[in-house]
Amino acid sequence: MSPAIRIAGVTKRFRSLQALAGVDLDIAQGEFFGLLGPNGAGKTTLISSLAGLARPDSGTLEVMGHDVVRDYRAARMALGVVPQELVFDPFFTVREMLVLQSGYFGLKKNDAWIDEILHHLDLTSKANANMRMLSGGMKRRALVA
Ligand SMILES: Nc1ncnc2c1ncn2[C@@H]1O[C@H](COP(=O)(O)OP(=O)(O)O)[C@@H](O)[C@H]1O
Ligand SMILES: [Mg+2]
Repeated sequence: MSPAIRIAGVTKRFRSLQALAGVDLDIAQGEFFGLLGPNGAGKTTLISSLAGLARPDSGTLEVMGHDVVRDYRAARMALGVVPQELVFDPFFTVREMLVLQSGYFGLKKNDAWIDEILHHLDLTSKANANMRMLSGGMKRRALVA
């Protein structure tokens, strides 16, 4: 079984600033992993590299065995990112937002799956509420969904 995340020898430099200096890290499937570090340690740079939002200078990153550069479609299909800031479209309900987001992944007619996710994130009662009406924690759970 491939690790969920495999990071090997990743470096990234912003001009004279070495943001990542050879990061090696494996995270197993099913593992909960907290990446901790002071401000500016390079956490966001590393996560952005995993999500394909930044390109490392060297090294490799894999999500469920898929290289995030060479096999980016499969890697992104297997990865969800909840950004630091709460970003959402204020015109949609929770369910509409999930239908729309599913579309970005090429998923259609997945109402049963959306119901299941809403249930597991304890958002069933908010399915038809506008995103604006959710509490901060509920918004974060909707973004996880
Ligand atoms: N786009 C960028 N251009 C220049 N420097 C950057 C950029 N992104 C991040 N940095 C720098 O890289 C270092 C790591 O930043 P970051 O990965 O955001 O840290 P963290 O998320 O751990 O707080 C910081 O010194 C930051 O200023
Ligand atoms: Mg950060």
